[in-house]
Amino acid sequence: MEQPIVEIDELTKYYGTLAALDGLSLSVARGSIFGFLGTNGAGKTTTINILLGLVEPSGGAASVLGFDVVDESDEIRTRVGALLDETGLYEQMSAYENLWFYARAWRLPKDQAEARVERVLSDLGLWDRRHDPAGSWSRGMQQRLALARAQLHDPELLFLDEPTAGLDVVSAREVRDHLAGLVGRGTTIFLTTHNMTEAEELCDRVAIIHRGRLLADGHPDELLSASGYEVNIEGVNLDGAAEAIVRRPDVVSCVSEDGRLRLRLTTPDPSAVVADLVAAGVSIHEVRRGTHLEDAFLELVREDS
Ligand SMILES: Nc1ncnc2c1ncn2[C@@H]1O[C@H](COP(=O)(O)OP(=O)(O)OP(=O)(O)O)[C@@H](O)[C@H]1O
Ligand SMILES: [Mg+2]
Repeated sequence: MEQPIVEIDELTKYYGTLAALDGLSLSVARGSIFGFLGTNGAGKTTTINILLGLVEPSGGAASVLGFDVVDESDEIRTRVGALLDETGLYEQMSAYENLWFYARAWRLPKDQAEARVERVLSDLGLWDRRHDPAGSWSRGMQQRLALARAQLHDPELLFLDEPTAGLDVVSAREVRDHLAGLVGRGTTIFLTTHNMTEAEELCDRVAIIHRGRLLADGHPDELLSASGYEVNIEGVNLDGAAEAIVRRPDVVSCVSEDGRLRLRLTTPDPSAVVADLVAAGVSIHEVRRGTHLEDAFLELVREDS
């Protein structure tokens, strides 16, 4: 099997007596978007900082691209891109100058630097505004510029700590499409987000951590099935509908409220249940999937609290 691009083995990090990371183990395969999820303070940023060699672990081991995070962090930092809290942008300098500065810092030859700066600015929809001072930009535009900066040297692995936080709906969509495109071209992305819909849409694999420990890890669908698939049904004649289906083996629970049925199923496909409802005289207006990953997340975190 191919070596994982990120490997974390029993990692611990203490701040005084607080265990920010408490024996975290996981690995990330190449060429995917890996979603690293958890509540505020769960240990996500701490993990990324350790993987980049910016924070020293208290125990355990980790490697990125096969390099040890403690002994070989210089190798890691020259090869990966990262978008962290601190954008690293110079406010007085124009967007173009900012990227030019960083492209040269990455020692890209001049012609290559020019091409990359133009490419990433265009990709992120910032080319027309390239002469504006970065400091004059809105938070969302600065965030996109920081994302452009993180990928100037075309890294094979990108760490993105909440790249869509604070972005409007349109910008967030553009960034997500952009990330999907990067992965299509072979980049691996290690992503944190508090947006469960985003994680469900983008990630091939997600890990949910809480209090510095791994709670669950797998394809979003696998995590969903642990808590059941939520389906909301709106219709007429719902009275008595619950009795018609509640004994079906694929129905975990069924609540009727405000003219709606909220079901939890063992399968993502509600068609058999819907057929039974129709047979029982219900006239169905709408069948809607719930936000599954959010349910699974809440359930896992509650169980661990
Ligand atoms: N430099 C530090 N000194 C002391 N405690 C710290 C430090 N950095 C992080 N912590 C603590 O470690 C824990 C994990 O923090 P971390 O920033 O990794 O969480 P996170 O999962 O990134 O949260 P968020 O979703 O809010 O960004 C928190 O309890 C935090 O207060
Ligand atoms: Mg964080």
